[in-house]
Amino acid sequence: MLLEQIKQKQARIGIIGLGYVGLPLVIEFGRAGFHVVGLDIDPTKVERLNRGESYIKHIPSKTLRELVEQKKFKSTTDFSSVSNLECILICVPTPLNSNREPDMSFIVATAREIAPHLRKEQMVILESTTYPGTTRDVLIPELESGSGLKANQDFYVAYSPEREDPNNKDFSTSTIPKVIGADSDYALECANTLYLSFINKTVPVSSTQTAEATKLMENIFRSVNIALVNELKVIFDKMGIDIWEVIQAASTKPFGYMPFYPGPGLGGHCIPIDPFYLTWKAREFGITTRFIELAGEINVAMPEYVVNKILLALNEKGISVKGSRILILGFAYKKNIDDDRESPSYKIMELLLQYGAEVEFHDPYIESIGVKREYPQFTGKKRVSLESIDQFDITVILTDHSDYDYEAIVSQSRLVVDTRNACANIKSNKIIKA
Ligand SMILES: NC(=O)c1ccc[n+]([C@@H]2O[C@H](COP(=O)([O-])OP(=O)(O)OC[C@H]3O[C@@H](n4cnc5c(N)ncnc54)[C@H](O)[C@@H]3O)[C@@H](O)[C@H]2O)c1
Repeated sequence: MLLEQIKQKQARIGIIGLGYVGLPLVIEFGRAGFHVVGLDIDPTKVERLNRGESYIKHIPSKTLRELVEQKKFKSTTDFSSVSNLECILICVPTPLNSNREPDMSFIVATAREIAPHLRKEQMVILESTTYPGTTRDVLIPELESGSGLKANQDFYVAYSPEREDPNNKDFSTSTIPKVIGADSDYALECANTLYLSFINKTVPVSSTQTAEATKLMENIFRSVNIALVNELKVIFDKMGIDIWEVIQAASTKPFGYMPFYPGPGLGGHCIPIDPFYLTWKAREFGITTRFIELAGEINVAMPEYVVNKILLALNEKGISVKGSRILILGFAYKKNIDDDRESPSYKIMELLLQYGAEVEFHDPYIESIGVKREYPQFTGKKRVSLESIDQFDITVILTDHSDYDYEAIVSQSRLVVDTRNACANIKSNKIIKA
């Protein structure tokens, strides 16, 4: 019955967690012809979305508004609406807690909210990134105990990791192959059919655990390779070799090499966090994740490396860091997006302030700094105008947004520290790579 409803696009879809992952899914399911209900605990987001307003820069309001006007999409904070849905996708956060261990509280809270409203012939799919075993050992027990129903018998469960890369112009939700794992053939068939309604290619795997492990492997691969190139950056810099030129040359090898780029440190909701989900789980099996730990150590040291470069650059000019004026360009964790979660800009700003510098920032997409658990002291800090750039002792490029005119930045700055090779094509003795 459920499979038939999915095939006919009569299955009503619920997306829980209307963030960077949930919202693109809303749009894709809506475009594919499904009715979509968005569920979130944040009433402000729900109100805005019901007015057809996106709150994320790269997700256009236009498409959301069309779906709202066609009555294909509405949002709510009322979880009882789960009983009117057939497929429920969970896209809530999976951060680390203060002990750097997996914080399952969002998944558990969601499971507890939906369990009382579950009924037979529904499907629940977890999309949040997590350690292998979460669906089987955390999600399913919560759903079963709260509903009195049996998973993969009364209702069906799958895990399908999100591979969203915000604002990637080459790949979108529908063109990125989707890995899907389930612990019963029917659950896998239902989930696979559901995603094939708007995704060009799916990759079914044999279990929820395999799908969970696949996502972690992808992000660990990135973290380790970024660490490697960050380490090489430090070594080559000491040798007077430009890492960026080396990467460009190495990238011409048509096999066996894939470029990764150095930077001021890891950022975002995924790469700095996800690898440690496996570290935590591996401990249960008596295994230490040495590659993950080492990569973490190297990547975490990058903000200090950048700050050291800034201190040396100021020193060369005879300026003490204490009392110096420093402008950070780019606060988002990567170019052309407005997401500053886990951005290394925070750490760099904190370190410079500790040295007694006066630090301001500019980011075309971030007007003021929102609430961050680790950096409450920066809440509400506003960006400065780029017109004041010549009043700073040094300009530090931390995010290479395409909107910036780097020629103008270099010509107006007194000194530039470039952590992204944004000024690659500009000849000037004011530029220091870091
Ligand atoms: N952002 C990315 O690029 C990306 C990429 C791949 C995977 N992921 C993974 O996807 C998951 C979601 O990440 P995100 O970036 O979309 O997070 P997000 O913070 O942008 O969105 C999460 C949403 O969930 C809501 N929420 C929190 N608790 C809730 C609850 N109990 N019930 C309902 N809603 C709740 C929040 O209000 C928020 O709107 C995470 O596991 C993340 O690791 C993210």
